[in-house]
Amino acid sequence: MRILSGIQPSGALHLGNYFGMMNRMVNYQQNNELFCFLVNYHALTSVFDANLLRKQTFDAASDFLALGLDPDKAVFWVQADVPEVTELTWLLSNITGIGLLERCHSYKDKTAKGIPASHGLFSYPVLMAADILLYGADKVPVGKDQKQHLEVARDLAIRFNNTYGETFVVPEPDIEEDFATVPGIDGQKMSKSYGNTIEIFADEKSLRKKIMSIKTDSTPVDEPKPIEGNILFDLYALFLDEKGKADLKERFITPGLKYGDIKKEIFEVIRDYFAPYKKERDRLAGDKKYVMETMQKGARKARQAAAVYLERARRNVGLDYNN
Ligand code: TYM
Repeated sequence: MRILSGIQPSGALHLGNYFGMMNRMVNYQQNNELFCFLVNYHALTSVFDANLLRKQTFDAASDFLALGLDPDKAVFWVQADVPEVTELTWLLSNITGIGLLERCHSYKDKTAKGIPASHGLFSYPVLMAADILLYGADKVPVGKDQKQHLEVARDLAIRFNNTYGETFVVPEPDIEEDFATVPGIDGQKMSKSYGNTIEIFADEKSLRKKIMSIKTDSTPVDEPKPIEGNILFDLYALFLDEKGKADLKERFITPGLKYGDIKKEIFEVIRDYFAPYKKERDRLAGDKKYVMETMQKGARKARQAAAVYLERARRNVGLDYNN
C-alpha cells in the first residue's frame, strides 16, 4: 500500500502534528511504501520571510528524521524540490469548480485569522490534491482538520478520470479517532494559528509554563472530575495504552484528584517521551550536510515516482501534440 502525507514547515512542530500525522507515518514505514514530504510551496501562503522559510524547512527535516523517519525505508523530500507538482496543479485547476473551493472551511478560517486572502491560499486544496495524485497514494494519514481537503483530492481524481480516462488513484483519508483532533491548551484544536500549541521540542522551562497554563474547570478537589472534554485527560491519554487510560479514568472519577498534580505528571511525561528524540534532533541540527543530502536523495526518488503519473496526465489531457 502506498501511504503519503505532508506537513507545512511553518513553525515549530506540536503535539497535534506529532500524534495526528508524524508518529503514525513513522509507524507505517515498517510495512508500507511511505511517501512523506515538507510542503514549502504550501507554507508560502503564510510565510513571507525567505530566511525563516529556509530555516523552518531545514528544522522540520531534522525533526522528522530525529523522530525516526528512516530515509532508506521511506521517500522523504521537500515539496518544491519536485516542482512538477505545480504543473499537475494547473491541470487539476481546470476541472476544479470554484464552488468546491468556496466550500472549504480552511480558507475562511485562515483569512479570518489574518492570513492574506490570496489566490494561492484559495487554491491551496488544488495544490494539495496534486501532491497526493502525483504520487498515486492509496492512503493519506491526516488529522481531522484535513478531512475536507482529502474530499477535494478524491473529487478531483474522480472528475479527472471521468473527463480524460483512468489516470489517478482515488485516495482514501486515514484519520485515527484517538488522534483526530488533539486539543490545545485552551481546549480548541491545537494549531499554530490559534497560539495554543504544546511544542514537542520545547525547552523544559517553557514546556512547564505551557502545561501549567492549561485551562481547567472549577470542580472542587473532593468531587469526581469530568472526563468528557477535559483537556488534561485528553492530553495525558495521548501517551497511554488502553490499560493506562482506564487507570487514568479511575483516578479522575475518584474524589481527591488535584489538577495541579496531573499537570505536573503531564509535563514529565511529555518531557521524558521526547527527550531521546530531542537529543537526536540536536545532533542532526549540527549535521547540515547529512540532512541536505538526505533530502536531495529523497527528491530524486520522489521525482521518479511523480514522472509516471505526470506523463500519464499530460498524455490524457492532450499535451503530447506531436504523436
Ligand atoms: P499541517 O502542516 O497543518 O499539519 C500537519 C499534520 O498535522 C495534523 N494536525 C493535527 N492532527 C490532530 N490534531 C491537531 N490538533 C492537529 N493539528 C495538525 C494535520 O491534520 C496534518 O495531517 N494541508 C496540510 C499539508 C499537506 C498535505 C498534503 C497533507 C499539503 N499537502 C498532502 C497530506 C497530503 C497541512 O496544512 O498540514
